[in-house]
Amino acid sequence: MDAFLAIASKRDERRYADRPVAEEDVLRILDAGRLSGSSRNTQNWQFVVVAEKAALAEAVYAPENVQTAGLVVAIMGEAFPFDVGRCAQNMMLAAWDLGVVSCPNGIRDAERAAELVGGDVKMILSFGYPQRELHVESRSAEDWSASAKRKPLDDLVIR
Ligand SMILES: Cc1cc2nc3c(=O)[nH]c(=O)nc-3n(C[C@H](O)[C@H](O)[C@H](O)COP(=O)(O)O)c2cc1C
Repeated sequence: MDAFLAIASKRDERRYADRPVAEEDVLRILDAGRLSGSSRNTQNWQFVVVAEKAALAEAVYAPENVQTAGLVVAIMGEAFPFDVGRCAQNMMLAAWDLGVVSCPNGIRDAERAAELVGGDVKMILSFGYPQRELHVESRSAEDWSASAKRKPLDDLVIR
């Protein structure tokens, strides 16, 4: 998939098919995280593939996202927020390219999440195959961009 098409079409999805994400897709998603840039290339993160989804679900704002996901990845460690964002978006875009949808999950109980995952959890991502087919490439990047629920560029750019 073209990079801009992936960026323009990516939407966060919270409804997942009831099956795990295939191991080759899991590895590609994790590798996209590994490849992310970070401040001074410190790579101060670990990617935890969460097995106990039900317990961790109680520590996020939208438990069903985590409970029903086919794959849950917690980004853990001392990475700066900007680095965590880059890493998370890389994982989600790589997943999107594979037909795997995803959603970031705000952490409601950081202490409990840390206890369950084994360290300071910075982001919890839920992934899964979509319940309905996506047909991303049936529309152009420009079309996806025009229909995105986002502020217009004129409201954002100063020059
Ligand atoms: C840091 C962060 C935390 C988020 N937390 C949640 C969350 O707890 N639950 C949820 O359903 N979506 C969560 N989201 C997803 C946002 O709601 C989503 O990015 C936004 O609505 C845009 O969605 P769209 O790309 O589908 O248009 C979070 C996003 C970010 C960046």
